Amino acid sequence: NSFMDSLTELAAVGGENLPAKYIHPDGINGGKDPFLLPFIDIPVIDVGHFTTPSTDTGKELEKLRAALSSYGCLLIINHGVESLLLDKVRTVFKQFLALPKEQKLECWTEGFQGYGSDPLVTDVMVHDWSHRLRLITCPEEMRQMKYWPENPKNFKEVLHEYSTKLQVLHDVMLKAMAKSLKLDESVFLRMIGEPVIMSARFNFYPPCPRPDQVLGLKPHSDGTVITFLLQDKEVEGLQVLKDGQWFRVPVIPDALVLNAGEHLEILSNGEFKSLYHRGMVDSERERVSLAVLSLSNPQSGVEPIEELVNEERPSLYRKVIYEETTHFDYYKSGRTLIDDARV
Ligand code: SIN
Ligand code: FE2
Repeated sequence: NSFMDSLTELAAVGGENLPAKYIHPDGINGGKDPFLLPFIDIPVIDVGHFTTPSTDTGKELEKLRAALSSYGCLLIINHGVESLLLDKVRTVFKQFLALPKEQKLECWTEGFQGYGSDPLVTDVMVHDWSHRLRLITCPEEMRQMKYWPENPKNFKEVLHEYSTKLQVLHDVMLKAMAKSLKLDESVFLRMIGEPVIMSARFNFYPPCPRPDQVLGLKPHSDGTVITFLLQDKEVEGLQVLKDGQWFRVPVIPDALVLNAGEHLEILSNGEFKSLYHRGMVDSERERVSLAVLSLSNPQSGVEPIEELVNEERPSLYRKVIYEETTHFDYYKSGRTLIDDARV
């Protein structure tokens, strides 16, 4: 099958053998090395100020609001997930990747959950230099356990533990976001409906001899409320667009990157900006990352929060029903949900 081919292809490193379907002919950074782009000074937020109110909580909330309005992303520290667990999460994924091909194919899929490549919408599209393992983690009834790797033995337990922690963190952050806009703290959670749906997307970027011509993940904004991104501990690769210019995001091993997704931009009537970003590949080292994202409940749909719509600031977006947001189509077409939702 084609995924089997791609497993073989991505593993066969060698400049001459680079298949044309992965190559962006004009280069990733106009022919220059994309790792020479400047670093972004991404705001760092201490979550401790939200979980334990202090005299600095107000200041931290304002920092959060400012970060989401101008960057669409931030780094969070003191987030309650121990460094040891972050390491375990990276390790179990790397152990899964190291399994023989046949075993990994047991989790293979062409659907939403499982191990594979994102489907291509048109056959002229350039392929991404990556594989992903995508698993819905919450609510537990939505888990499709047949796609959860049997090996390594502790994979399921580690992902369960991590996802439980992130569920708590998710509520903390959405409440803080509401407060930062002087709204009732539960407003975002109410709007996205219960139960919160969360999904984990493990990304695997094998090394590639031409990081200037190949993308691990094409530029996109996430079709999510928010995304918590755990980066590789050593290998850099995330780049973000700000004010029309691409920036590198530094690797900070124990921090999580929090990205605003398209649903958050719509809910906040544009007060918060969804982040446009891409994944790069390293010439020598493999890179892994794990995005855990939250989705608004399909029944609720997404529309701007009433309190954020008024005469001075009319509704910028129409209501979008989740089924309508066939995210792949956007991802592949270069448009975003935001483009289509804007009134
Ligand atoms: C993603 O956008 O899902 C991942 C980006 C990254 O690997 O840093
Ligand atoms: Fe993303």
